Amino acid sequence: MNDSIFSPDKYANTRLPIDEAQPLPAAVYTSQEWYDKEMETIFFKEWLQVTRIEEIPNPGDYVRVDIAGEPLIVLRDNDATIRTLSASCRHRSSELVEGKGNCRRLVCPYHAWTYSLEGKLMGAPSMEDAKDFDMNDHNLPTFRTETWAGFVFINFDDNAKPLLECLGDLPERFKDYKMENMVVTKKWENRFNANWKIWVENSREGYHVRTVHRESLDTYYPGAKNSKFKAEGKPGVYAINSSDNENGLYIPRNKTLPFVDSISEDDQEHTHFMVFYPHLLMNVPPDRITFHQYFPEGPEWTRIITWCCFPKSTVALENFEEEVEDKYYPPMELFIKEDKGICEVVHRGIVGRYANPGRFSPTEEQTVYEFANYVLDHVIGPEESK
Ligand code: FES
Ligand SMILES: [Fe+2]
Repeated sequence: MNDSIFSPDKYANTRLPIDEAQPLPAAVYTSQEWYDKEMETIFFKEWLQVTRIEEIPNPGDYVRVDIAGEPLIVLRDNDATIRTLSASCRHRSSELVEGKGNCRRLVCPYHAWTYSLEGKLMGAPSMEDAKDFDMNDHNLPTFRTETWAGFVFINFDDNAKPLLECLGDLPERFKDYKMENMVVTKKWENRFNANWKIWVENSREGYHVRTVHRESLDTYYPGAKNSKFKAEGKPGVYAINSSDNENGLYIPRNKTLPFVDSISEDDQEHTHFMVFYPHLLMNVPPDRITFHQYFPEGPEWTRIITWCCFPKSTVALENFEEEVEDKYYPPMELFIKEDKGICEVVHRGIVGRYANPGRFSPTEEQTVYEFANYVLDHVIGPEESK
């Protein structure tokens, strides 16, 4: 057997049908070599969700985002087009801006090289004597940026298919929620000592709910029994796991805020947990969306920003602030804390040399299995590994 971590033989058991398959070997959660290849084959190839459009409503608004180790600026230019530029100055690579804000030009804080909002170098002091120096050769790299339902996505790969094509029938499935009319009302930021895949896998199953979310259940949903998810989707593209609201742990029992009135009766009774691979993880109850933006920072660390968005009409209600602070945010905070805790617990176990995967539950872990195979399809390649 080939000794390389990329040898397809090592993953043959994850490729089997789910009722025979094993989870991914522990090494793929800890190896730097594997992580680097994930960055190249997944994060530098796929559509990545970077912000919401309402974060940059006006010309000149920008946010700084670090993704896959790349410092980026997502901004709205003077024509109101959303663009993504490299945040590394073309002189000696200083970070151009930090945080978020509004500007007419990007002025480097180091030696004041100045760029337009389209990334064009407009000014470079004291460069008159530099031989054959042409400002046109030093524009900022720009990256493909497209939007869906208020989400802004970027892609480092110029050859990638357009975002809407990649989304398949997802926009149709969720169109009644009118997510483009929702606005961000709250964000939580956490840094986890765990590999990014552990976070994605944990989001894909209800198997852990009765144990990991015991405190949430007892506090907010006493009597909830059935945490099993119903799964639909397209392997390798997206997955939707759904639970009914009564047991879905997401709608406060004493709810006061309205549901989105354009959704179907069935959607009114369910909460959907959705992944559009690899990077949009979203919870969709009938009244809002919550999405978890994750940023891998090496094999052992992941930064997670959780965003909560409500419809504008709900945010305009007189009692909105009071209700969300009282009934909606506290359970979400407890959920995040419980999930963060368990991801770190899993990572502490997975680093051991005797860590060895068992088997998947075919009824509970269909989407975890699909995700494992999605990772293999990219890192190892679908052909060689079959
Ligand atoms: S590094 Fe930006 S102007 Fe020098
Ligand atoms: Fe959870």
